Amino acid sequence: MKKPYVIVNCASSIDGKIALPGKKPLKISNEEDMARVHKLRNECDAVLVGIETVLADNPKLIVKEKYVGKVRQPLRIVLDTFFRTPEDAEVMKPYAKTLIVTATKEEKIGNVEIIKCGNGKVDIKKLMEILYERGIKKLMVEGGATVIWEFLKNNLVDEMNVFFSPIIIGGDAPSIADGEGAKKENEIINMRIEKIERIGNGYLIKLIPQQRQ
Ligand SMILES: NC(=O)c1ccc[n+]([C@@H]2O[C@H](COP(=O)([O-])OP(=O)(O)OC[C@H]3O[C@@H](n4cnc5c(N)ncnc54)[C@H](OP(=O)(O)O)[C@@H]3O)[C@@H](O)[C@H]2O)c1
Repeated sequence: MKKPYVIVNCASSIDGKIALPGKKPLKISNEEDMARVHKLRNECDAVLVGIETVLADNPKLIVKEKYVGKVRQPLRIVLDTFFRTPEDAEVMKPYAKTLIVTATKEEKIGNVEIIKCGNGKVDIKKLMEILYERGIKKLMVEGGATVIWEFLKNNLVDEMNVFFSPIIIGGDAPSIADGEGAKKENEIINMRIEKIERIGNGYLIKLIPQQRQ
């Protein structure tokens, strides 16, 4: 299967949480990590999030000039089965191109292309082939928890970067990977630690998922 090289990136508390309970957004990365994230975005052809991240955080998903030499805005991709992206969401604004992937409708609204990929549910394997054909060779998956699980479960992740900040959130906040999760031991995602790097008050861990059969 031809697919982009997929890099998952997220920022987590020490207890594996990526937001506050109730999906309330929280800035977890420190300034040095933000610079790393923007450099990585700048190297990628596209950045992808799930609709719940758009609704919770309303991210711009752009590269800020202050962090990189020459800005090259990646395509912004939102997985959004029923096209719930609000029309005033930041991803709808023309800072960069946006692709909204649904299982229900196709349309073009200015800089935003809406495509249908899958029936009932967005087919992310098929989407990987479509993106590859469109020239997306490097894809950054920025979350949230449900989307990260789906990519891992489907063996689509080549590399995963988690920045751990020395904070504890607790409670039932979204974690690094939610979704259905592993029900049995053989459904666990095994990872190999490639690198651990100190970044300011936190640390970055680079993991390589071990492919499952
Ligand atoms: N700290 C970080 O690095 C970081 C980064 C990003 C997000 N976050 C946090 O993560 C939280 C949101 O995470 P979340 O798990 O609730 O939602 P999410 O992963 O952002 O979005 C999940 C939604 O995407 C849609 N979707 C469409 N096709 C899908 C597919 N094939 N696989 C998976 N999802 C698909 C589904 O909604 P439909 O059925 O309606 O399409 C699904 O409910 C927020 O609190 C946000 O702040 C943290």
